[in-house]
Amino acid sequence: DKDMGTDLKSVLITEDEINAKLAELAAAIDEEYADKDLLIVGVLKGAVMVMADLARALSTPVTMDWMAVSSYGAGTQSSGVVRILKDLDTDIKGKHVLIVEDIIDSGLTLSWLLSNLGSREPASLNVCTLLRKPEAAKVAIDVKWIGFDIPSEFVVGYGLDYAEKYRNLRFVGTLAPHVYGG
Ligand code: PRP
Ligand code: MN
Ligand code: MG
Repeated sequence: DKDMGTDLKSVLITEDEINAKLAELAAAIDEEYADKDLLIVGVLKGAVMVMADLARALSTPVTMDWMAVSSYGAGTQSSGVVRILKDLDTDIKGKHVLIVEDIIDSGLTLSWLLSNLGSREPASLNVCTLLRKPEAAKVAIDVKWIGFDIPSEFVVGYGLDYAEKYRNLRFVGTLAPHVYGG
């Protein structure tokens, strides 16, 4: 079924709300890194949209790199097993690094990433995520910039997928339970 309309339960965060929030986050990030060179690291594939829009909302010049890790596969539950599918192209030793994520769910992906990238001796290491599910946290993570705290529902759109679909929606929506058999 290719009709995304019937697969969605509701719109959780609109395109306008996302853009307004990214402008707020970008202002705070601009201030923090005013006198520093900043490398933003997007976590493929979910963070593609937020990376592209956040980067363009920033005034401070940045360089961009990407990591691909996967902990979810095609399911809706985090397995806790993180695999590197693509590592950074650049050495981050001595650099100011900001990890950009679409969502922190259990926190297992980011917890693993923070210790992995942290061991490479960056000058600083911070996190910006568009979404966080506080009720789903399995590990506590220090996240400097959070767009929205959301309930523990399965969300898609604006980079977030279910079985690789719905990433290209301009908004964040909740998925109808019939789609994932809930
Ligand atoms: C999703 C999401 C985060 C991670 C959050 O990525 O984009 O990276 O899960 O979950 P966690 O806090 O429970 O670890 P996913 O592994 O689905 O890969 P994708 O970005 O390619 O969709
Ligand atoms: Mn991801
Ligand atoms: Mg995914």
